[in-house]
Amino acid sequence: MRIPPRVSIVEVGPRDGLQNEKSLITTADKIAFVDRLSAAGHRAIEVSAFVSPKWVPQMGDASDVFAGITRRAGVRYTALVPNRPGLSRALAAGVNEIAIFAAASDTFSRRNINQSIDASLATYAEVCREALAMGVAVRGYLSTGFGCPYEGPVAPSQVATVARRLLDLGVFEVAISDTIGVAHPGQVPVVLDAVTAAVPLHQVALHFHDTRGTALANVLAGLDYGVTTFDSSAGGLGGCPFAPGAAGNLATEDLLYMLDGLGLETGVDIALVASASRFIESRLDHSLPSRFLQSSQL
Ligand code: HMG
Ligand code: MG
Repeated sequence: MRIPPRVSIVEVGPRDGLQNEKSLITTADKIAFVDRLSAAGHRAIEVSAFVSPKWVPQMGDASDVFAGITRRAGVRYTALVPNRPGLSRALAAGVNEIAIFAAASDTFSRRNINQSIDASLATYAEVCREALAMGVAVRGYLSTGFGCPYEGPVAPSQVATVARRLLDLGVFEVAISDTIGVAHPGQVPVVLDAVTAAVPLHQVALHFHDTRGTALANVLAGLDYGVTTFDSSAGGLGGCPFAPGAAGNLATEDLLYMLDGLGLETGVDIALVASASRFIESRLDHSLPSRFLQSSQL
């Protein structure tokens, strides 16, 4: 296997994780969770989402969460932004990196953001223009990159086309996302072959949900391909409210256990992530799915 010396993790637990929790977590607990994750050594944390609070009530306190966190030097604190009102809120909160989120399938795009792919890219073009002019970096997500909950299989050529269109808007990286956790390691190089024909490999990240237990195997396939940035969520929190059947993201602890074992440097301390997960788990009405967490005393 080709294994890179260093891997970057984007911690999405406070956003992709908590957005799916039915009962509201307090703003103070969200702030404490983010601070514990940065203390664990994370260098990129998706803190919240400036989306419509009518669509995702749990993210309604995004501005207050940003106001409360302790920003550590060298840590990127990001948030989802779906449109210009969201960008205005993000700018007012002092956010200096945002993420836009398009989809490779039209039905998911409409269910998630109430716009077709084309319409969403027109909205995002305005968001990117304004954000980049303000010196705000923009990351891109591409949902349903490995399958759609409404349309089923998605052609890799379609994934590549939308990924390229996102890059053309000025995103620094596109996270090809397995929204509902259907990907398997045989599919990963096939999708990456198509995507990297349109987008440089170093601008491709992978975002796996672990619905069917294949997320870690998919990461290994991605590492072998040369991808060096992976998204994960503390404790395996997560899901998408608009993707039926989407389970939690790949758990950060499970990812770290594998990467640490492979001798790959991440800069993130697994024990401190586990402690952050235990903290947020104590505020939830269910246990977290991370295998590492369940099998350890940490
Ligand atoms: P809409 O209803 O079409 O929007 O929603 P609208 O422009 O008609 O506005 C409706 C109301 O929302 C208005 O308020 C707006 O002011 C307000 P009203 O006049 O009714 O009082 N509004 C806002 N308020 C605050 N912030 C905003 C904002 N925008 C409008 N930014 C919209 C369109 C995009 C807003 C909505 O569909 C939305 O917020 N969707 C977000 C859904 C979401 O967060 N999904 C989960 C994240 S994506 C994900 O999990 C996938 C990912 O992890 C990758 C993967 O795994 O695939 C990233
Ligand atoms: Mg996701």
